[in-house]
Parts: sequence; C-alpha cells; structure tokens
Amino acid sequence: MARRDNTEKIKLSKESYKKARKFFTFLKPYRSQFIIGWLFLVLSSLTTMAFPYLMGKLFGASNITSNETNVADQIKDLDSLSSVVIALFLIFGFQSIFSFFRIYLFSKVTEGALRDMRNATFTKLINLPTDFFNKNKTGELSSRIATDINLVRETLNTTISEFFRQVITISITVVLLWFISWKLALLMLSTVPVMAIIAVFFGRYIKKLSKNAQDESAKSNAIVEESLSSIVNVKSFTNEVFELGRYKKAVETIRILNVKSGTWRGLFVSFIFMAMFGAIIFVLWQGMIMKMNGEIPYDMFITFLFFTVMMGASFGALPDLYAKIQRAIGATESLMTILDEDDESVVFSGKETPKITGNIEFDHVKFAYPQRKEIEVIRDLSFSVKQGELFAIVGESGAGKSTITQLLLKFYNIDGGAIKFDGVDQKEIATEHLRDHIGLVPQEVLLFSGTIRENIAYGKINASEEEIHNAAKQANALEFINEFPDGFETEVGNRGIQLSGGQKQRIAIARALLKDPEILILDEATSALDSQSERLVQDALDNLMKGRTSIVIAHRLSTIKNADKIIVMEKGQIIQTGNHEELMASNNGKYFELNQLQRMVD
Ligand SMILES: Nc1ncnc2c1ncn2[C@@H]1O[C@H](COP(=O)(O)OP(=O)(O)OP(=O)(O)O)[C@@H](O)[C@H]1O
Ligand SMILES: [Mg+2]
Repeated sequence: MARRDNTEKIKLSKESYKKARKFFTFLKPYRSQFIIGWLFLVLSSLTTMAFPYLMGKLFGASNITSNETNVADQIKDLDSLSSVVIALFLIFGFQSIFSFFRIYLFSKVTEGALRDMRNATFTKLINLPTDFFNKNKTGELSSRIATDINLVRETLNTTISEFFRQVITISITVVLLWFISWKLALLMLSTVPVMAIIAVFFGRYIKKLSKNAQDESAKSNAIVEESLSSIVNVKSFTNEVFELGRYKKAVETIRILNVKSGTWRGLFVSFIFMAMFGAIIFVLWQGMIMKMNGEIPYDMFITFLFFTVMMGASFGALPDLYAKIQRAIGATESLMTILDEDDESVVFSGKETPKITGNIEFDHVKFAYPQRKEIEVIRDLSFSVKQGELFAIVGESGAGKSTITQLLLKFYNIDGGAIKFDGVDQKEIATEHLRDHIGLVPQEVLLFSGTIRENIAYGKINASEEEIHNAAKQANALEFINEFPDGFETEVGNRGIQLSGGQKQRIAIARALLKDPEILILDEATSALDSQSERLVQDALDNLMKGRTSIVIAHRLSTIKNADKIIVMEKGQIIQTGNHEELMASNNGKYFELNQLQRMVD
C-alpha cells in the first residue's frame, strides 16, 4: 500500500476512479436490492417535488378565500383546501414509506458489501508476504482500514442518496422554475454559477485539510499501539514521558488540522448561507414586484418561493456531499490498493507438493532484505542437512542466523542460488505445503491472548484433549500448568505476558510437538534461563528434536555439544564447519573463542 504523508497532494487521478470502481464488484451480489433501493430513492425525491406545488395551492386557496364574499365560492375554495390538505397528507405518507424502504435496503446492501470487503481485506492482509509488514506499520494499517471502511459505509448509506436527491431536486426545480417564470428563474440562477465555482475551490481545500487530519490520527493510533504493545520497554526505560510527548504532539497536530479545517468549513457554510439567503430575499423582492404588476399569480409565486428555498438548500448541501464522496473515493482507493497487493501465492509461485522428509540443501544462497537491498545478509551460503540430523548454527549477533530460518520458511525470495528440500527447489514447492512440514520455535515467543490450551492447540487446530495433554507433558510444561488454579484454562494475557520466558518457551515447544513437523527450527532465545528451567527446556527440546531434522540456532553452546554438524557464521558466510570436538580442536578458531567467552559468562 502506498504510504501517504502530509505533504503529499491529495488528488484523485483517473487511477483512483478506476480503483474505486472496482468497489462495485462488492456491490454486485446485492445489486437487485440496491436497484430497488434506488427506485425508492427516486420515488421519494419525486414526491418531495409535489410539496412546493401543494403549498402554493394551499396558500393560494386561503389567500383567495379571505377576499371572497360569495358563499358558493367560499365552499368551493374550502373543498379545494381540504383536497390540498389530503394530498399533502398522502404525499408525506408515501414519503415516509419510501424513505423507510430506501434506508432499510441501502443499509442491507451496505452492510453486506462491507462484510465481504472486511473479509476480503483481512484475507488479503493475512496472506501478504512478510515484507509487506516490514514496510507498513500494523497500527497505522489497522486504523486506516477502520477509518476507510467507516467512510465507505457512510457514503453508501447516506451520502450517495443525499447527493442524488439534491441533484434531482435541483434539476427538476430548475425546469419548473423556468416554466413558472423564466424572468424570476434567470434572476435566481444568476447566483448559482458563482456559488458553484467558489464551492469547488473551497471544497478541495477543505478535503485536503481533513485528509491530513486523518493521516495524523492514523499516526497517533500507531503510537498508542506501539507503546502499549511494548509496555514493558516503555516502563523499564521510564520513557512514559517520551511516549506521552510523542502522542501529545501528534494529537495536537490533529487538533490544529481539524480546527483549521473546521474554520474553513464554517467560512464555507456561512458564505453559502449569505449567498443563498441573499439570493432568496432578492428573488422574493423581485417576485413581489411582479406579483403586484399582475405578471404572476399568487399561488404560483408561493410555489416559486418554496422551489427556490429547496433549490437553495440543495445547492448549499452539494459541495459538502461532493467532498464526502471524494473522500470516500480516496478511502476505497486505498482499500483497493491493499486488495491489489500481490499476496504470497503470487510472490512465491511454487505449486508442487513433493514428499518432504527433512533433507535440506543450501546451494550458494544469496540474500538481501528487500528494504536494504544494498546489504547482502546471506552471502554465497552453502551447506546440507541430512534427514534426522541435529544441525547447529552459531555466530555473533547479526551474522544472519535468524535470516536463515526465515528463508527456510520461504518468507522471502532469495536473490541467488537455491534452497532444496529433498532435492526439490524451494521455488517449485507450494508455500503452504512447505510450511506444513516445518515447525518453528522462534527466538521471541509470542503467544496469543487466550488460554494455555488455545495457545498449545495453535500447533494443530483440531487437536484432541489427549494430544494437547501429551504435548504439554513432553514439553515439560505439564508441571507448571497444573500449578495454576485454572490449569490449561489459564489466561496467558496479552502476548503471553502473564507467563515467564521459560514457560512461554515450553508452550512454544508443546505447540511444535503438536504440529509434529519433519523439520524443526529452533531459534534459541538470547536471554539465559536459570539452570533449573534451562534443564527443563533442554529436556523438552530433546524430546522435540527426536527423530526429525533439527536446525538449532544456539546461543548457549552447551545445547549443541552432541550436534551432528555445527556451522559458525560471520557476516552471512560460513567460517567454520564441524562437530563440537573438531571445532574445539582448532584453538584459534571462532568456535573456540565463542566457547571461551561463554565459559567466562557462566
Ligand atoms: N526485516 C529486515 N530488514 C532489513 N534488514 C534486516 C531485517 N531483519 C534483519 N536484518 C538485518 O540482517 C542482518 C542479520 O540479521 P539476523 O536476524 O539474521 O541476525 P542473527 O544472526 O539472528 O542475530 P542474533 O544472534 O542477534 O539473533 C542484521 O544485520 C540485521 O540488521
Ligand atoms: Mg536471531
């Protein structure tokens, strides 16, 4: 999705309209209801048109009656008076029925289309490659989507129909006014083009201001999201004041922008009012003169006046509605832009579903993160892992160890060489199929808010109670789980905050056990556990690694003493290979050095 900032000019291009038009595909399933809704809209707009005519008749009738002396004429006038009143009642009766169905149908269509659109957007987002989330802040993204969807809702529900109603009102009144008195109509219309030009100019400016405010508010939401999701960081660094400062600054900018746009909106409205009422009073005055000269009958004059007021009001409402529609087009455009993003099925094209047993080969792999193309994180890396082996990767921080796990999982396309699973190039393998065979215990275990059981079951959504229990047992988690009063139903809190690091790790291990993958990737947490829980975690890991290919990124070198093969990495390259004994033999090598360092820490 294209990021928009404050300085960018908000201009809708042909492209915007083209994108917005794609939105109609979401309306398609509801088109019959939509069309009937429009029918009711037209009907209710048309019945409104009878109102000024009947008011003219009403006032006209009462006006004549007061001057009448003949009893028969009075009765006749009374008759016509009551028929006018009955007609008015009928008009309003129909009007209310039409309005009900219009609103009912439009909201049915809108909510249906929006539900589909929400689903489509989330489906898209969840299937986008990881790179998308490196580029876009999730807080900003979710807040923008919420705002955009609200804008679209408002537009579909009310703005479009209001806009259309005003347009009908204006076009019909112009024609009728012309028939009643072209002279008066000309007088009336002479103010319209001026208003229209100014309205467009104003409208554009106001739109830009409110868009800026919207962008700012998305930013402020991102601040809230970021600081709350890493509240431990905020507090431990006592950066509350700093975060608050950032937030206050963003919020103040929103206020300033909104007040500015409010001021201009106010000016805009008052201008329209001045012009409108000025025109109405002017027309009233001219009409009175014409009526006195007998150029126009009284009831026609009243009708004319009501039409004029209606038209004036419609013109006044138009620019605001127009601006809203423009905003909604902008909103649909950005939603459609998300829907247009290439998801993983496009970015990673593989379709094959070969048998994956756990033989892995890195063949001269080159890789740079798309965000930092100039830095090659993995440089010409080659190694192979046999089925069932314990393969370890060690190296300094930033050497590219975690990157290897990301590449194995096909989170990114590599820039050169090949990664092969049982001889099949990763590029050819369907992404889901590949990931189904890989289990990851990540460096930073993030749990979902929910119960312990739900978090373990995440490894296999339809796991039985027994399977979950067994997985927890093998992961050495059963003991601490049973110590909680609620056992498996214990809530872990947001992101698992109510559990210790070692507990979280064991839950992640249980999750992986449940998944039972052919290949296991273990990105060991940097934070050292105390020796008691380290032993528990290590036991759990030994259970987990049994009988499958395991790739372990080790920080505690004790973990990998019995690894079949260890590679030592530096700056995206292998500098040493061998098993523990072999590597320790060269006492000026990196592995030896790392070991010495570790011994000093321990
Ligand atoms: N999403 C990303 N975009 C751009 N660069 C990245 C990204 N993730 C990591 N890097 C860079 O890639 C390099 C390797 O990172 P990686 O996470 O693989 O290191 P590591 O060996 O796992 O380190 P550690 O032991 O600290 O976990 C680092 O220089 C890092 O700054
Ligand atoms: Mg890492």
